[in-house]
Amino acid sequence: MAEAAAAIVTALQLLGQALATEIVKEAHSHASESFSTISNLEVRIKKIRSELRVMQSFLDQMEIHDQSNMPMMTWLVEVQEVADRIKGIGDEFIHLVDTKKFGGKRFFLKSLFKEPRSLLALKEISIRLECEEEGLKHLGKIKERWVPVTRAELGSSTNDVNQRLVRDAVFSYFTDELDLVGIDENKEKLTNLINSKEPHLSLISVWGMGGIGKTTLVTSVFNREREHFSCNAWICISQKYKAEQVLRNLINEICNSEQKNQIKIDHMDLRGLKETLRGLLQQKKYLIVLDDAWDQNSYQGIRDVFADSNQGSRIIITTRNADVASLAKEGNRLELKPLPVDESWKIFSRKAFQFERNHVCPPTLVKWAKHIVSKCNGLPLALVSLGSILSSCAKTESEWKRVHDELSWELQNNQNLDQLRSVLILSFNYLPKHLKNCFLYCCMFPEDYLFARKKLIRLWIAEEFVEQRGGSTLEETAHGYLSELINRSMLQVVKKNFSGRVKRCRMHDTLRELATSLCMKDNFCLLYEETESINRDMHVRRLSIIKSGNKIFYQVPLRQLRTLMSFDLSMVQSPLVATEIPKFTCLTVLSLENLSIEHVPDKIGNLFNLHYLGLRNTRVKLLPNSIEELHNLQTLDLMGSEIRKLPDGIVKLKKLRHLFAEALIDNKCKLFRNRCGIYIPNGIFYLKDLQTLKAVESNSTVVKELGNLTQLRSFRIWNVKENESTELCRSLSKMSSLSYLAINASHHNELLQLEDLKLPQIQKLVLYARLNENMLKSPLFQISREGIQELWLGWSQLQNDPLPALSYLKNLTFLALRKAYEGQKLVFKAGWFPKLKILVLSQMPDLIQVKMEQGTMVSLEQILFRELNQLVKFPKGIEHLMNLKWMICRNVYFEGFAKGTHKVYHFICQVV
Ligand SMILES: *[C@@H]1O[C@H](CO)[C@@H](O)[C@H](O)[C@H]1NC(C)=O
Ligand SMILES: *[C@@H]1O[C@H](CO)[C@@H](O)[C@H](O)[C@H]1NC(C)=O
Ligand SMILES: *[C@@H]1O[C@H](CO)[C@@H](O)[C@H](O)[C@H]1NC(C)=O
Ligand SMILES: *[C@@H]1O[C@H](CO)[C@@H](O)[C@H](O)[C@H]1NC(C)=O
Ligand SMILES: *[C@@H]1O[C@H](CO)[C@@H](O)[C@H](O)[C@H]1NC(C)=O
Ligand SMILES: *[C@@H]1O[C@H](CO)[C@@H](O)[C@H](O)[C@H]1NC(C)=O
Ligand SMILES: *[C@@H]1O[C@H](CO)[C@@H](O)[C@H](O)[C@H]1NC(C)=O
Ligand SMILES: *[C@@H]1O[C@H](CO)[C@@H](O)[C@H](O)[C@H]1NC(C)=O
Repeated sequence: MAEAAAAIVTALQLLGQALATEIVKEAHSHASESFSTISNLEVRIKKIRSELRVMQSFLDQMEIHDQSNMPMMTWLVEVQEVADRIKGIGDEFIHLVDTKKFGGKRFFLKSLFKEPRSLLALKEISIRLECEEEGLKHLGKIKERWVPVTRAELGSSTNDVNQRLVRDAVFSYFTDELDLVGIDENKEKLTNLINSKEPHLSLISVWGMGGIGKTTLVTSVFNREREHFSCNAWICISQKYKAEQVLRNLINEICNSEQKNQIKIDHMDLRGLKETLRGLLQQKKYLIVLDDAWDQNSYQGIRDVFADSNQGSRIIITTRNADVASLAKEGNRLELKPLPVDESWKIFSRKAFQFERNHVCPPTLVKWAKHIVSKCNGLPLALVSLGSILSSCAKTESEWKRVHDELSWELQNNQNLDQLRSVLILSFNYLPKHLKNCFLYCCMFPEDYLFARKKLIRLWIAEEFVEQRGGSTLEETAHGYLSELINRSMLQVVKKNFSGRVKRCRMHDTLRELATSLCMKDNFCLLYEETESINRDMHVRRLSIIKSGNKIFYQVPLRQLRTLMSFDLSMVQSPLVATEIPKFTCLTVLSLENLSIEHVPDKIGNLFNLHYLGLRNTRVKLLPNSIEELHNLQTLDLMGSEIRKLPDGIVKLKKLRHLFAEALIDNKCKLFRNRCGIYIPNGIFYLKDLQTLKAVESNSTVVKELGNLTQLRSFRIWNVKENESTELCRSLSKMSSLSYLAINASHHNELLQLEDLKLPQIQKLVLYARLNENMLKSPLFQISREGIQELWLGWSQLQNDPLPALSYLKNLTFLALRKAYEGQKLVFKAGWFPKLKILVLSQMPDLIQVKMEQGTMVSLEQILFRELNQLVKFPKGIEHLMNLKWMICRNVYFEGFAKGTHKVYHFICQVV
């Protein structure tokens, strides 16, 4: 339903735009008899618009749980298709009358009415609109005749609307592992199994049903224990695994980057892969997790690679299947059971009553709360998910009874679904409309895919899922959507930035299955994983090819295709990618990331609806000139492709918000200059909406014009010369929203005078250049004192100790100094860097002494020392760092310690 409503909204917007164009009015006056269809254009558009508006308000009124009303669901699909087609027609119309192409309205109008071809096109549009108008009328009649609407569905009063608003406004908090009571005991058991005295390789199985918290448990133990193993890896075995892929992933996890360059595994066969892996594991103490195995074969098929070196290696396998669990010997099986009632109650209350004092359930609700908890069968995921829903419902008996009844209904009527799924369907139904699409969208990615926050947000925006809200940018609003989905446990956080912002998240398997089935039903997208059947009557709006199985998608009706993504690298040769693309004129998102294609079809300019073009990590060398036709493009992602120069026409893409183009030229990152940016055509500085620009090669023109891009948030510039630095500062200081900035000099000895930089919003700053001694006392470090969270200084070559000046950066969470200081001694004084989590010191050949006073860096968790040749005395005072978890030393040799890479655990034990 969300989808139907969204389709109507976009169609409406477009019709509005169409009406606003001169051409509609002009058409009227130019009408001659032979073109009477055109003269009706205005009237027709208005009629369709009012019909759609009524439908929209009807959909707005409907209550949420309507999955069961089959006629209604079918009807909605029909509505959505018509709305989509109307949108398509609207798009074409706008494109046709796009006056910019013709240099002025008047000129255009004249030429249009003189030129038969355009006139014919216009006529065709008018005729198609007429058909759709009929279609809409027809749909209206069908509904009256066949589609029952129950009272519950027609949300009875404004009260409901208000409640939904409340529900949307306040929502709960993160589901950390910490949310799961009862996890401690199992953690201890698992830890003991891992650390037992048994010298032989042993297999440990962790099993239980979906949603019971297997992965959560194993992750938290794995993260803590893996440091004790010389080699560790975590691999997800999906339902459709292939042994080769599993082995490849394992090798990738285990190898360091140097080994990766040496071993060429991409084209290795099963035997080669096995031999390679066996070699890598030999004589090692390793810990490997095989997550979510579905059958015994997933382990049996590769077990011979796990060499036993009698050093206490362990393999952990998690599964829903008892059969798989039985692969481990009896004492090594850990079964996760549903939580007992009292613990279920605890988890549920912590979520549902998070805003009440001590999470206490109001007495009047106890009865319903208990009923609801008992229906969750002790499954943590279900409890948390329902708790989330209820935390924002009104705390009245009638409201809770309603949720309870809805839940019972789902459980009874969806007997083919298990308990968990029924609960999750409810969670989905309770999502506000704007989140439903965003959520469903996530299942277009492969199982266990790690979403990068910013990328997902750009895609949602490209899909027009994100509404403009007040003064926020779309990106900010979308970020709010993401937090909401996380808060409702619909997505899980996997990685956060040093200061706690989400960087990567994942969709729980069961939720993905659910989303997938909803998508199919709703025609939201077609997820192609080798086996799906496709027929000509399908209305495919989005296509995600996870595994093509070498299928050629000829028979799929793709005229309406709006989104095409491919995750199957073998699609390179497919005509779909090579030649067909320009035919899908409705396309708004096209992502061919990682495909080793070398060309983009010349006619890509036909895709005038395109908002997102993803060619990251492809081998494309040139963009066709027709790219300048993509007037609606918002994101152009060429990161890691072979494009070095953009066509001049790029400056016509006025809506561009994010431009990525950058290539690695030195894989090992040893050289000072290891990346290469793009050469940009004159005039790119007229693209005032640009928020991201990574990266440009500097020259004297570039640094001057740059200041016009006042909306930039994220910016990298390479190859800056000394005589450009003043101008650069002036330009950068005009970008009042800049939060990420990276500058590299043209040469490791090039001095950049950046003292005049002023960046009030800066959070992340990377400066690789020789700097003046007084740089750290410059306005930049005064004005932005509290804002700067991450700082990289490289090749600064300072003579004076930089720490006293940097110590004013109270909110710094990450600090890296590489060839930054040429002195002999660094002292971290009490009270400095209270929020610092990670400290990196590298390549400072003169450094002899490092000292930490008591009370310095109280939050520090990790230290990385690299290539500090003269630092032979173990840093004094490390024992004061109470939160330190790891200290990693590469090519640093302390007196009294064995050579090699040291891990801090051992240090701390020895030192304290
Ligand atoms: C999600 O929860 C966090 C932590 O309670 C809160 O700060 C944030 O505002 C919530 N976000 C949304 C969009 O509800
Ligand atoms: C990390 O997350 C915080 C808060 O969520 C955010 O304000 C900040 O911009 C992020 N830091 C960086 C350096 O990206
Ligand atoms: C492309 O490959 C990179 C590196 O292997 C991976 O992290 C990324 O998720 C891939 N992107 C897509 C869309 O599959
Ligand atoms: C700039 O320096 C950083 C740190 O060495 C590096 O990661 C980045 O690739 C450099 N850029 C270029 C263009 O070499
Ligand atoms: C600067 O580089 C751009 C291409 O990136 C080029 O068009 C321009 O002519 C160059 N200007 C100078 C002064 O070299
Ligand atoms: C940049 O802005 C200046 C005035 O602020 C204007 O004269 C110039 O034409 C602009 N250049 C570009 C490329 O937008
Ligand atoms: C800046 O210095 C470079 C060499 O480092 C030189 O090629 C260029 O002409 C100089 N530009 C100006 C404007 O002086
Ligand atoms: C920096 O820290 C101060 C308190 O030490 C806090 O008030 C401020 O909000 C923080 N600023 C940012 C941008 O996180």
